[in-house]
Amino acid sequence: MNKKQNILSPTGKLGILTPGMGAVSTTFIAGVIAANKGIGKPIGSISQMGKIRLGKRTEEKNPDIKDFVPLASMQDMVFGGWDIYNDNVYEAAINAGVLDKDLLNAIKAELETIKPMPAVFDKKFVKNIDGENIKKEKTKMDAAKALMNDIQIFKKENNCERLVMVWCASTEVYTQISDIHLSIDKFEKALEENHPAIAPSMIYAYAAIKSGVPFANGAPNLTVDIPALIELAKKRKVPIAGKDFKTGQTLMKTILGPGLKTRLLGIEGWFSTNILGNRDGEVLDNEDSFKTKEVSKLSVLDSVLEPEKYPELYKDMYHKVRINYYPPKGDDKESWDNIDIFGWLGYKMQIKVNFLCKDSILAAPVVLDLAVFMDLAQRAGMKGIQEWLSFYFKSPQTKEGLTPIHDIFLQKIKFENTLRYLMGETLINYLGLDYYDEEQIEEFQVIENK
Ligand SMILES: NC(=O)c1ccc[n+]([C@@H]2O[C@H](COP(=O)([O-])OP(=O)(O)OC[C@H]3O[C@@H](n4cnc5c(N)ncnc54)[C@H](O)[C@@H]3O)[C@@H](O)[C@H]2O)c1
Repeated sequence: MNKKQNILSPTGKLGILTPGMGAVSTTFIAGVIAANKGIGKPIGSISQMGKIRLGKRTEEKNPDIKDFVPLASMQDMVFGGWDIYNDNVYEAAINAGVLDKDLLNAIKAELETIKPMPAVFDKKFVKNIDGENIKKEKTKMDAAKALMNDIQIFKKENNCERLVMVWCASTEVYTQISDIHLSIDKFEKALEENHPAIAPSMIYAYAAIKSGVPFANGAPNLTVDIPALIELAKKRKVPIAGKDFKTGQTLMKTILGPGLKTRLLGIEGWFSTNILGNRDGEVLDNEDSFKTKEVSKLSVLDSVLEPEKYPELYKDMYHKVRINYYPPKGDDKESWDNIDIFGWLGYKMQIKVNFLCKDSILAAPVVLDLAVFMDLAQRAGMKGIQEWLSFYFKSPQTKEGLTPIHDIFLQKIKFENTLRYLMGETLINYLGLDYYDEEQIEEFQVIENK
């Protein structure tokens, strides 16, 4: 048994701040408010509906995660954020067209009071949209200070004990790490000098970490994936995590991929195409923003299949991902996967997946869980990259030099064992002798004694 870790209790209110108050953010906020009123259930959220096994299977101890670990309650949450549009959360949710009008009207009063603060925005990083609710600070450092001021005011006005920030804004254009991202000194100098390689998402992340607020990145932008901000998070003892919520097609890939690999079935090609018609789709219609998403989506299969270890099965796999903006679909994304697999003696087979999903319905519980578990990490004194939350991301952020784990089932084991560790429970790897029945163990002992 491990020692139970010291975890501060989740007293008072938790403020959840989202840069970006579009489809995902408003579906998340409206969902929590509706669930609190008993109008709906937070389906898909592990923090609210998940269970965890403790001890041996024979003990049959499977408490709800929310009763096992001290988590912030949904009743104690307040919401805020930034957007380039002025619409309050009710108007933005109506525009997003994800949730029914009737449901939104039932919580209209609560949603209308949440208004986005003026955003830090730079059209060079998100090309296909224009808004009017934008800060006009002279330098990027001034913009960061303005965000820190917003954070303090929000905390005070809403009487919050703690805050977390989850990036729910548009995907920025593809950026690579450059010299000014390598240390916090260089990064701060570059903020003062308005350096073009600093994206708005990095300014939000900097402001959050400086303010002691955990930051999770829901989009595929670089953001906290740069040495400067990793260094700052460690120094300030702030948890960070990223990137790109694992939903939709990639969720299916990380469910199917490990399954095929486990049975050692080969894959000749995997063609994935999507059509979607929401604002996210409009932003991704820009080549540079799509490139950011493409890199995030492509990396998944390589790491699941490990072609370097199984060259006959996966080395020559052709993997292609397409996303097309198609307005009539709205938030109802449709994706097709054509998977050409081969088995015994190289005989070919095909799998076709046609997923008619609602992106924001899949993403909302991920935002909720990330907010809840990032807050837990902060109260447990966990700082820097939170790899145990890889379960929620398409491109999990890991310590330098480590290969990310994409297999959703391995990610889930790591996630649950982290909770067990925090609470002083025995870790479960499903391999120990306690996983076999007594007769089987006796047989093992007979073999051992021979
Ligand atoms: N829905 C999913 O399943 C899913 C999965 C993975 C990643 N994502 C990512 O999550 C993000 C949000 O998705 P969405 O469907 O809500 O998109 P959306 O377009 O509906 O909302 C994004 C909002 O961000 C705002 N915005 C853009 N730049 C901003 C800035 N600098 N500061 C503040 N606000 C800014 C936009 O005005 C917009 O209202 C996107 O980056 C998307 O790629 C979504």
